[in-house]
Amino acid sequence: MARKDFLDIASLSREEVELLLEQAVPFKELFTRSVKKVPALKGKSVLMLFYEPSTRTLSSFEVAAKRLSADVTVFDVPHSSVVKGESVKDTIDTLQSMRTDYIVVRHQRAGLPLAIARQTGASVINAGDGAHAHPTQGLLDAFTFKEVFPETDGKKVLIVGDILHSRVARSTCTVLQKLGVEVAFLGPGSLVPKKGPEGVKRFTDYEEAMKWGPDVVYLLRVQMERQDAPFFPSLREYHKVYGITEERFKRISGEGTYIMHPGPVNRGVELCHAVMDYERTLINQQVENGIAARMAVLYSLKPGI
Ligand code: CP
Repeated sequence: MARKDFLDIASLSREEVELLLEQAVPFKELFTRSVKKVPALKGKSVLMLFYEPSTRTLSSFEVAAKRLSADVTVFDVPHSSVVKGESVKDTIDTLQSMRTDYIVVRHQRAGLPLAIARQTGASVINAGDGAHAHPTQGLLDAFTFKEVFPETDGKKVLIVGDILHSRVARSTCTVLQKLGVEVAFLGPGSLVPKKGPEGVKRFTDYEEAMKWGPDVVYLLRVQMERQDAPFFPSLREYHKVYGITEERFKRISGEGTYIMHPGPVNRGVELCHAVMDYERTLINQQVENGIAARMAVLYSLKPGI
């Protein structure tokens, strides 16, 4: 049965994930045509409600919805009555009165998309809630991974960095594990939680982690905005210990290891400049695939209004 909302990856079965990934393939093929549009959501309305900044997720959802022929409204939070103190609940009630079919929401509070989904008949899509989940990022990462490795079972992905604050780490790890991928975390002890997903290896030493033999090194953005306490001595030190430095890049590119990153990147922190021009860096492919993956999600949902 079709779902009303798309709030996390954890509640999806492997079959549901694979179905969404299969659905994204013809949507991606559409991008090579002169007319990049299908009428699937003609007459439907999609509202983008972003309480936190975004470049990729916001614009790619907008493009995805438009390529499905939906009408899209980007709710301008900083210039709305939110700044006059209007609550999220009242904002949703107001928007609900306009009979919106889909609400794409990003908020700093974990669990808020679920609360909205319970309040409204519109289909709610989580575009990132606090450090909890970023399920469409997970899906687009899995789609990108599968393009490179169609047989996912037994492949290895090393996720590097600020696991503690990362909703991307949570969602991407979860979806990859569902596809049979082995996942390991690498980062400072202060940023790699001891408890967490089962079956995930944990490393604090870069060399040791690379000996594990990852097929993909997935770098996380260092999130200055979510760190109210210093978790490592300095950005320079982070780069030296956990970043892909020029020296490490030579080895990684020599071995043909793929690199992923959800963006936005901090050059000189998670990676050196050369990584961005490496033919096995999949960052731009991730962004392109974000549109196809989000089209698949929008297409799969059934609003209850
Ligand atoms: N990857 C990601 O969520 O990027 P944005 O914050 O730019 O949407």
